[in-house]
Amino acid sequence: GKGEYDHYMKKEIHGQPTSLANTIEGRVEDGEVDIESLPAGTFTNVEEVQFVACGTSYHAALYGAQLLKASDIRAEVIRASEYDSASGPVDENTLTIAVTQSGETADTLQAIRKAADRGARTLAVTNVVGSTIARETDDAMYIRAGPEVGVAATKTFSSQAVSLALVSQRIAADIPHADQVDDVDVMLESLEDLPSQVEEILETTDAERLAKQYIDSDAFFFIGNGLGHPVALEGALKFKEITYEHAEGFASGQLKHGPLALVTERTPVFAVCTGGDDGKTKTNAIEAQTRGASIVAASPDDHPVVDAAEAHLSVPDTHPVWAGLLANVQLQLVSYYAADLLGRPIDKPRNLAKSVTVE
Ligand code: M6R
Repeated sequence: GKGEYDHYMKKEIHGQPTSLANTIEGRVEDGEVDIESLPAGTFTNVEEVQFVACGTSYHAALYGAQLLKASDIRAEVIRASEYDSASGPVDENTLTIAVTQSGETADTLQAIRKAADRGARTLAVTNVVGSTIARETDDAMYIRAGPEVGVAATKTFSSQAVSLALVSQRIAADIPHADQVDDVDVMLESLEDLPSQVEEILETTDAERLAKQYIDSDAFFFIGNGLGHPVALEGALKFKEITYEHAEGFASGQLKHGPLALVTERTPVFAVCTGGDDGKTKTNAIEAQTRGASIVAASPDDHPVVDAAEAHLSVPDTHPVWAGLLANVQLQLVSYYAADLLGRPIDKPRNLAKSVTVE
């Protein structure tokens, strides 16, 4: 049951220190990634990786693909429902990864079947042991997030992103031409702190106050670049899904190519600034501010965006690869509190199903 929580979604947001610890458990040993179902050598022949996924899982896939590209590995991310038109060439050196919390999403199942028909090796990254997609793929990696009841994916997103980061390092270690990320040791070491840093956010977050402050806005925009981009997209998806308010996520630099026309003093802009290459986010957030919008920065306390911002959601200091996932927890909380203030049926938003088994 929900225990002390009003909603499953809140319980599941608060479950992330535990779910993340379970995702990581035993998978990093002596500075190396060790995934039980994917032993060293599994990916030696891989020349290109394609991800197929929908919704929140698509955002996790965007995150994973960026990490592969950082290791000089070709990667593309395809919305599973667009597989026919969006997939590039596929052969036996292609690895197609289905990212799917439920393992039952029809669009994703069809896409992975088509990839397999065309000769790809297939891998499922999923939360559900024995799910259809896990059974049909060559290999499966389980994200171990535990059952998620709320329709809005929360703890499964963070566990997927961490799992894909681990898979990307496993692949990079196997492929001879891949460049391991320079500070892979630091990155893997800081992963250990992720669960306690989520806990820190849960104990100190200002999300409820911010939700109250901005609840009467006309629309809610989320921007980020680099690894902040998928976090911005996910922030907006969660917000619209459970509040029914208009929310959009953009790559920071794209704001001025159209969406800026929507920006007013009644459209707060959530700027995901989590280190790495996030310079464009600050400059574009300030462009929006010049048009009257408030900046809500999700960033470490000492990030330069904080001085410019009207409001701040604090992200504990960590490696840039994990910082976006911490920012995401803050954004989950803002969505939750905003939806609660509006009296929405948070765990079962209208028109949506937890698992979408029709194409
Ligand atoms: O089970 P899957 O991860 O394949 O589901 C895909 C999407 O339907 C899902 O991620 C959806 O976008 C989320 N529940 C939204 O919070």
